[in-house]
Amino acid sequence: MTSLTITPGRTLEGTITVPGDKSVTHRAIMLTALAEGTSTVLNYCRGEDCLNTMRAVQSLGVRIDEEPGQLTVHGKGFWGLTEPNGPIDCGNSGTGIRLLMGLLAGQDFFTVLTGDESIRRRPMGRVVKPLREMGAVIAGRKGGELAPLAIAGKRLHGVEYTSPVASAQVKSSLLLAGLFAEGVTRLREPRLSRDHTERMFQYFGIPLTRDGGTVVLQGRPAVGWAGKRVVVPGDFSAAAFFIVGATLVPGSDLTIQNVGINPTRTGLIDVMRLMGADIQILNQREEVGEPVADLRVKSAPLKGVTIGSDLIPQTIDEFPILCVAAAMAEGDTLISGAEELRVKESDRIATMSAELKAMGAQITEKPDGMIIQGLGRSGENGRLKAAGKAQSHGDHRVAMSLAIGGLTADTRMTIADTGCVETSFPNFEATLSGLLTHHS
Ligand code: S3P
Repeated sequence: MTSLTITPGRTLEGTITVPGDKSVTHRAIMLTALAEGTSTVLNYCRGEDCLNTMRAVQSLGVRIDEEPGQLTVHGKGFWGLTEPNGPIDCGNSGTGIRLLMGLLAGQDFFTVLTGDESIRRRPMGRVVKPLREMGAVIAGRKGGELAPLAIAGKRLHGVEYTSPVASAQVKSSLLLAGLFAEGVTRLREPRLSRDHTERMFQYFGIPLTRDGGTVVLQGRPAVGWAGKRVVVPGDFSAAAFFIVGATLVPGSDLTIQNVGINPTRTGLIDVMRLMGADIQILNQREEVGEPVADLRVKSAPLKGVTIGSDLIPQTIDEFPILCVAAAMAEGDTLISGAEELRVKESDRIATMSAELKAMGAQITEKPDGMIIQGLGRSGENGRLKAAGKAQSHGDHRVAMSLAIGGLTADTRMTIADTGCVETSFPNFEATLSGLLTHHS
């Protein structure tokens, strides 16, 4: 089992890039597979989650050639997917399994979707239920609440659906199903979740519109879409670890180039700025309908902050690292309305509380969040302690958050079971150590 050892005491200085966006990569692979003709996908995420989606699409009959830094996807056209000859393994990826479910529900063949131990614990009913309303026939453990899931492809019809959760996976799954459904699909969600699917549909010319807070999609478009060049922006959620790291380690000055700054993703910038962080957004531009920029972060003392429901969807994947920032801030941080954290790759309220408590942080767990009493940054007590047995709990974002926490600890710390980092950020360790050794 792999582990990661972090030596504290060095600043984060210089310029880095982060992997391509995981969310955008999943969508790029699926939409280019359905395009007419060839697409190239550049700067895609090579994390295990996206490789699993790539293998899934290959098993659906789509040829994908990979050369360093570039995928060539030979699109099969709108109805071009074919039945796989075995179950599809989505690994650790909630996005992979939920989006594929939508994509496959309206095909004229049978598929089985499964994944690792964590995926087989995560809720699938949130997608299965509305897909069934569209006419899908899906069976699974606990009545379709849990994977493995068996999908008997059926003719679908459009649906009008208000999701009880602000989830881009639910929304995107239904949009992919809606593409293959007869009639119109109209979707609403309690708060806007990440809108990469909507933007990528528009980038490929798929007619999707917005009517206030409702996304409207006409199913079975009269004409398909052509293959395109897709340049994936850097993953904001990967950049987040370094944004917090450079803020926390005194004397740091770090530039992260080419980062996606879609406003449905960048809640961490807003929260960190409220806490006192020094983050500059430079060279703003656009790529595949997504805003992109370089981020420059200088260290700064932080103070506690209150985070409620209105800030949750756009910050959802950043809570593990935000907990580290809060633990080092002056004063209390209150997080509420974040019950979705309990159904991620791990129960992130429980896992981050346990791990940061082991590092000397004061945390009270709540059903929908936590209260973190910051240590402050000055004086003897202003540091985290290196935990004796830090654990990732098989969750990539917990592993990387603890690594950043370790940079501010009193002594060297080893995090166990860090193989999971591969799911989203294969070169995390190299990026971090390159940065530290270069300037040590
Ligand atoms: C994602 C949506 C979010 C996020 C996940 C990626 C996506 O999940 O946590 O890492 O790519 O659509 P939910 O839709 O469950 O909030």
